[in-house]
Amino acid sequence: MRNTSLCRCAYKKLGSKPPHFLIDVMAISRLIIENFRNLAAVDLEFDHGFNFLVGDNGSGKTSLLESLFYLGHGRSFKSTVTTRIIRYDQPHFILHGQIREQRHQWSVGLQKLRKEGNTIVKINGEDGNKISDLAHLLPMQIITPDGLNLLNGGPAYRRAFLDWGLFHHQPEFHAAWSGLNRLLKQRNAALQQNYDYAALKIWDMELAKLAHQVSRWRADYAEALRTEIEKTCRLFLPETEISIGFYQGWEKDRDYAQLLEHNFERDKAIGYTVSGPQKADFRFRANNLPVEDVLSRGQLKLLMCALRLAQGEHLMQQKNRHCIFLIDDFASELDENKRQLLAERLRNSQSQVFVTAITPSHLRQMQPEKSQIFKVDKGTIKPLEN
Ligand SMILES: Nc1ncnc2c1ncn2[C@@H]1O[C@H](COP(=O)(O)OP(=O)(O)O)[C@@H](O)[C@H]1O
Ligand SMILES: [Mg+2]
Repeated sequence: MRNTSLCRCAYKKLGSKPPHFLIDVMAISRLIIENFRNLAAVDLEFDHGFNFLVGDNGSGKTSLLESLFYLGHGRSFKSTVTTRIIRYDQPHFILHGQIREQRHQWSVGLQKLRKEGNTIVKINGEDGNKISDLAHLLPMQIITPDGLNLLNGGPAYRRAFLDWGLFHHQPEFHAAWSGLNRLLKQRNAALQQNYDYAALKIWDMELAKLAHQVSRWRADYAEALRTEIEKTCRLFLPETEISIGFYQGWEKDRDYAQLLEHNFERDKAIGYTVSGPQKADFRFRANNLPVEDVLSRGQLKLLMCALRLAQGEHLMQQKNRHCIFLIDDFASELDENKRQLLAERLRNSQSQVFVTAITPSHLRQMQPEKSQIFKVDKGTIKPLEN
């Protein structure tokens, strides 16, 4: 519970700042970077519509998207080892962002030291904030060429997709989800200690309560998202029938506490809890076959984009909050026509969008009303006149 109430509290407090200006979408208006990958010192003001980053391979385009993602998640989408992200031979990296949304402004800072593992997060100059506070402020969707694991990777990627939505839609989700993971870990440790079931039962009752709650939220959210996903798929993949199903991780309508008791001896023999919300999946099929068997890479990319756009759109409709879209290597795998479709859907989302490309010609289809182009060259980034 502590986490969520802290988040809400921080959010409320920050939200009561006096108005300085008025913009209708949530946007990162300025970003200062120190020693993040090959970006030694960067200070940029962004458009709250489209921001294009153009430059050669290895110039620093993905690194800039990675720094934005890091500011919103406290982790990278590329490396799990944070020390690799700090610029070679430097003791730390620092990110500082200014966020604007309607009448509010937040100043957020994140620092990571090479020596100590802790991440220091500041919001409006105050210490003691958590990464989840930043994540609440900055809903983001990332689309990268590696992002196809959402479709052809394991269920963990799709659970993370659903849980991202619940984190932003359901204020009590984060605490329930953390509690569930803690109890599962404890249970798995206990299974290896040769306890008999009576010793576990009391934990299992609590675990089952959280499992049912989290699964109900996931199922409802998956269902709510279905319409939005189907709408986008009809536009992006009109020739293919995409079907969607949610699996909660154990047999539908079966009481989870009873199942845990029933499976105890098997779980003990294997050494971990085999069924449960930790096995949930959000499954996609194309023409009733596994998507990765039917769709080309370009079509998989479009489906992945459709999922991420639909999720952003749903957040907008339900919570009146805009996502920030980070799109790495926009042009890869997509023909002219498909680029056009994706560009149009992004324009309609009216969100702040960051797009990387190797040459400006790859961005021809975008043509947004409001945009800023940046030239990225060996770790320096400069705005170009439009
Ligand atoms: N920790 C680091 N310190 C300094 N440079 C790094 C670090 N990690 C990666 N790089 C370099 O940063 C450069 C930029 O990479 P990247 O942002 O992926 O380029 P782009 O997306 O423009 O092709 C690469 O040349 C890479 O070798
Ligand atoms: Mg790149």
